[in-house]
Amino acid sequence: MQRPKIFVTRELPERGSREIRERFDVDVWPEYVAPPKDVIIARASKVDALATLLSDEIDAEVFDAAPNLKIVSQFAVGFDNIDVKEATKRGIYVTNTPGVLTETTADFAWALLMAAARRIVEADGYVRSGKWKVGWHPTMLQGMDVYGATIGVVGLGRIGLAIAKRARGFDMEILYYDVVRREGLEKEFGVQYAEIDDLLRKADFVSIHVPLLKDTYHLINEKRLKLMKKTAVLINNARGPVIDEKALYRALKEGWIHGAGLDVFEQEPTSLDNPLLTLGNVVVAPHISSSSVETRARMSGMVAENLIAFFEGRAPPNLVNKAVTEIARPGWT
Ligand code: GLV
Repeated sequence: MQRPKIFVTRELPERGSREIRERFDVDVWPEYVAPPKDVIIARASKVDALATLLSDEIDAEVFDAAPNLKIVSQFAVGFDNIDVKEATKRGIYVTNTPGVLTETTADFAWALLMAAARRIVEADGYVRSGKWKVGWHPTMLQGMDVYGATIGVVGLGRIGLAIAKRARGFDMEILYYDVVRREGLEKEFGVQYAEIDDLLRKADFVSIHVPLLKDTYHLINEKRLKLMKKTAVLINNARGPVIDEKALYRALKEGWIHGAGLDVFEQEPTSLDNPLLTLGNVVVAPHISSSSVETRARMSGMVAENLIAFFEGRAPPNLVNKAVTEIARPGWT
């Protein structure tokens, strides 16, 4: 039997890439930088499957050029780079990698929170740049307490809950906002529901864990940043456009809030001209929250698993667009 053809838009960790190579006729984009859109279109036109990253724009233009495309297996939990509605219309399956990256991503949000609250990156620069001229001083690099503070978790999905678990260890009061109140979880995780504006008014730390949707675009805007405490710290390792970055710059520069920790940006990579990068009270990272060796290996394994299940005629375990099964079923190669 002919092996299904796949275009993999970047070299994946060995665990998944080995399995893909064993079973598929594989075309891998060999460079570190993303393939341009016209390359994605040209390669997609020849294959049955794509393995994609969150930085690849997979839309109707790609689907229209790819008559044999049956499945897009994304190496990420978020999939806002894929036009899922257009995929579903065409009977194309879309899968992602949920679950395996939850704790690693929550760890990183917590690292950003601690770093921004306690000014770790500023302190590191202070020592290295020779600013540390006085051995000890009562007001040197004062930060904000984490232990016993109030945290507002925006989005109580898997990662939001993992944040809540960490917050309990720090004896924090935990507020959460979500589009639906999750009463069933409140007691177990010790979390209290609050409307978003109320949460922003009360929280010392606000951590964003919602997907990027029309309704979450610029959810944190100027008006909402102005509701926050002057001592508050804002963390985002979900998606950059959930926060209006221009407003955030003013908030940090003019002292509406104390600090921020950002692993995601409105444009990625963010430009060196981004004014946020001139501020000492923001800690930044290049969208690496799930990047531990083991988690990235597991994610690659899931990418392979979703593809293999599909081409063996089974439902992929992490199907995003369940409605597609009404249109096309796996095993129809
Ligand atoms: C990373 O941002 C992911 O969605 O997995």
